[in-house]
Amino acid sequence: MQRSLLVKNIGELTTFDSRSESMRVFKDVEMIISDGVIQEIGKDLYSSEFDIIDAENRLVTPGFVDPHTHPVFFDTRETEYEMRIMGKSYMEIAAAGGGIRSSVRSLRSADMNILNKRVKQRLDDFLQFGTTTIEAKSGYGLSPESELMSLRLLKELGENHPLDIVRTFLGAHEYPDEYRDDHEAYIDLIIEKMLPVIARDDLAEFCDVFCEEGVFSVKETRLVLEAAKFLGLGLRFHTEEFKPIGGVQLAAKLGAVSADHLTAITDEGIEALVEGNIIPILLPATTFFLGSDNYAPGRKMWDRGLPVALATDFNPGSSMTQSMPLVISIACLKLKLTPLEALQAATYHAAKSLLHDDRCGSLEKGKQADFVIWRFDRYQGIPYFLAYPSVQSVWKKGVRVWEMK
Ligand code: NIG
Ligand code: FE
Repeated sequence: MQRSLLVKNIGELTTFDSRSESMRVFKDVEMIISDGVIQEIGKDLYSSEFDIIDAENRLVTPGFVDPHTHPVFFDTRETEYEMRIMGKSYMEIAAAGGGIRSSVRSLRSADMNILNKRVKQRLDDFLQFGTTTIEAKSGYGLSPESELMSLRLLKELGENHPLDIVRTFLGAHEYPDEYRDDHEAYIDLIIEKMLPVIARDDLAEFCDVFCEEGVFSVKETRLVLEAAKFLGLGLRFHTEEFKPIGGVQLAAKLGAVSADHLTAITDEGIEALVEGNIIPILLPATTFFLGSDNYAPGRKMWDRGLPVALATDFNPGSSMTQSMPLVISIACLKLKLTPLEALQAATYHAAKSLLHDDRCGSLEKGKQADFVIWRFDRYQGIPYFLAYPSVQSVWKKGVRVWEMK
């Protein structure tokens, strides 16, 4: 049996605390870990039985939970980025056959060994930013073969990787070229040939749809998600990113766990989130990366009592970043969340949005010892040190999985 660990000399331990139902900043505490699980957080816990982790008076926080990522793609899309910088919009590029559909063509013709290596590298890269759990979507295959391959790849890689990976099926990310003019047939394909295998082989916990004008209409989204729900999958939404078409109202009707993006949400939409008990996942790095000023009304949602969560939306088209600290910086500056709120959104609320808050998202007795030791001593440093290599070391279930050299 592994000896118990004691994390000592913690400068500040900042975490959500279930007893007070709020974020807490603890000073002079130590943390005991056995078998990857937190046994106790308190004062003067030293005993000679413990192996020691010396935090050297630095900040300790929970590892980030990134609840919205798209890591299964093959080529990157920097030429499209240049087109956007030169004035083309994201939707114009998509309508001209670029965007998601160009990633689909590249994934379908990918060399599987190289794909495997690239996705594995991306999983490794999440760790250096302090992320210890991600949600990861398929959605660049859009055929039974390549969607199932994407989810199986995530499953296989996840079995041997320190990151916890929560898989989401996003076969309804876009209509593939061969079904441009026959939406009904593509929806049938999802419902008959993809979802049943995903449920049978336990390939995903959630199903997501890009419910947006020009992509999946509210009616089409409903067909896919009702079938997913029937098979026991939880529901997520990409919606109200460009136009408020009623995606959040549908999310409330179907009992979705989260609705994501929401840059174009209306006040009625915010009320639908409240009534439907839906977690809004905001992706301010996407807004930034797209060069838009149209940020989601994060402050308003928070003040309305919604458990706002934050994610990177890591993908090759609209958010080429895996950095939760960067997301937190932008959330403070542009969504007007305070640093403490943004940290709560990137840890505890994010874990809730994946229905995994029983094991991650906060540092508390009984939870996994997934934590970050930072290069500074207080939580305000996370957004303040902008795009800085802020992480000293990352620990997953009590094991060091990344360290600043
Ligand atoms: O979440 N909005 C839709 N899907 C992705 C973008 C995917 C892409 O451009 O490849 C997103 O932003
Ligand atoms: Fe996304």
